[in-house]
Amino acid sequence: MNNTLLFHLSDIHFGLEDNQALDWVKHEISTRRPDAIAITGDLTMRARHSEFAAATQWIRSLGVPVTVEVGNHDMPYFNPIERFFDPYRRFRGMAELVERELDLPGFAIVPLKTAVRAQPRLNWSKGWVTDAALGKCLKAIDALPDGQMALVAVHHPLREVGTEGTALTKNGLKALNELARRPVLAVLSGHVHDAFDIVEQTKNGPVRMIGAGTLSKRTRSTPPSFNELLWDGERLKVKVRNLDDIDSQAMMIDDVPEDATPPRHQGEPVAAVNQVPRTDPPVR
Ligand SMILES: [Fe+2]
Ligand SMILES: [Fe+2]
Repeated sequence: MNNTLLFHLSDIHFGLEDNQALDWVKHEISTRRPDAIAITGDLTMRARHSEFAAATQWIRSLGVPVTVEVGNHDMPYFNPIERFFDPYRRFRGMAELVERELDLPGFAIVPLKTAVRAQPRLNWSKGWVTDAALGKCLKAIDALPDGQMALVAVHHPLREVGTEGTALTKNGLKALNELARRPVLAVLSGHVHDAFDIVEQTKNGPVRMIGAGTLSKRTRSTPPSFNELLWDGERLKVKVRNLDDIDSQAMMIDDVPEDATPPRHQGEPVAAVNQVPRTDPPVR
């Protein structure tokens, strides 16, 4: 079997994107020609029309099959009515790329939605795997031809730690338990802005979880990066690519943080931060 090369990008946050990093990634894409690109959410900073326009233009210019997950930053932020009734309207320039399955040699990228338009807790930045979203994902995995593995793409890591109030993803454990019973190579995620490659043990067996860092100026503890995934038919190798050429192990965090709230960075629009309701801390 030929190798399959996948670029895993995340948290570009147009509006606060790192243009030097994006120019470099675009160059890498044009020279390496990956078979596909998975972008695991947070395309924008505050889901502004101008930010979506920039995201759409950049993604459309790549010339490679792309699948896009929705992040908590990608639903209308200043317009709660639109957020509730038509949360994906601003994706219209790339509608067919959003949460789409991509079938590649050896594996398929299968989306699992974790960002929701509303939820019964104050901090909407957290993830939630609804029963409907999980059912749709499992059905897609079960429909894959024999021998075809799945790479599940989410925005929030499926990690449920701490109390209900601080859990990164509600029903994350339930989803992992189901995925562990299926031919899942790994779960690809974003949201925490640092890369990782860890194995989560569940009652049904292990699930590999791979996170990509950010390509924005909202870095957390590592410089901007993306993941290069190479599937040789037996093994999935992960390399964390970054402009500083820091090796993958040094770029990866050891565990998914319990709460991924980033530090405030210079250059981050103060107005946007100040408009976050006091009960809803700045979100990733
Ligand atoms: Fe996020
Ligand atoms: Fe983010």
